[in-house]
Amino acid sequence: MKGTDFLSAADITARQATDLLDSAMRLKADRLGCRALAGRVLAMIFEKPSLRTRVSFETGMVQLGGHAIYLAPSDISLGRRESVGDVAANLSRMVDGIMARVFEHEKVVGLAAGADVPVINGLSDWEHPCQALADFQTIAEHRGLANRPTLVFVGDGNNVCHSLMLLAKTLDVPMRVACPVGFEPDPAICAACPDIEVVHDPLAGVSGADVIYTDVWASMGQEDSAAHRKQVFASFQVNAALMARAKPDAIFMHCLPAHRGEEVTAEVIDSPRSVVLDQAENRLHAQKALLVALMG
Ligand code: CP
Ligand code: NVA
Repeated sequence: MKGTDFLSAADITARQATDLLDSAMRLKADRLGCRALAGRVLAMIFEKPSLRTRVSFETGMVQLGGHAIYLAPSDISLGRRESVGDVAANLSRMVDGIMARVFEHEKVVGLAAGADVPVINGLSDWEHPCQALADFQTIAEHRGLANRPTLVFVGDGNNVCHSLMLLAKTLDVPMRVACPVGFEPDPAICAACPDIEVVHDPLAGVSGADVIYTDVWASMGQEDSAAHRKQVFASFQVNAALMARAKPDAIFMHCLPAHRGEEVTAEVIDSPRSVVLDQAENRLHAQKALLVALMG
């Protein structure tokens, strides 16, 4: 994977995904033992806020012996102060990799087209592939991927859902999506994942689930429709009644940040069945594996 981009969960083969997850497990067991990126620098472009993505990439680069530079939304005003192509070309002369969190997915595609160094999608309106890598590491730890646990995504067919679908397909993990009418995953993603069923009944949707996953009802950039979405998504809240329809030992997942009382109740997200902090921590380990594979 050296020198390649990671813009989509579909960018990696099953073998590459498995190798990355194995590497992430090794890096987790020996978190300061790998200095594969000594002297390397990662530029991190953010058009949106972040806690986990920024801290996990920056910590990961430091632990690997390198350094990360945080570029806030106001620092470079991607595409306004300077074109996406010019930003990519300039950064390529100075750094060894670029991670970008953007609104329009086209911007990470444009960065990759203009850069000579690997570009990593740190979340776009279309996908969140680093999140999916960490999530499948978490599912592997708690359920074992060889057991083919059933993953049910409940809520908006959004960026997080898209990347989970694509990686579930690659890793041969059974998945279902339960969402309101009109909030389905994009038809192109559904077409790429024909075995993933999309249903509109949340209670029936989670039946037999080993893993229940949800995300916010209004993603960053969708604040204007948040009030409308609260009404549409009300019956898709992950609460004790919904969890009771899954397998008795089903785990709960959320990429975070979460809104208690909206997409999930405090009772569920703060329960022993919730693995959300493992997901957050695994961002560090999974992304270190990715950084070493792309930039090592
Ligand atoms: N899950 C995630 O990407 O968190 P941040 O938005 O805090 O980076
Ligand atoms: N779907 C959410 C994920 C945040 C990590 C968003 O795009 O805001």
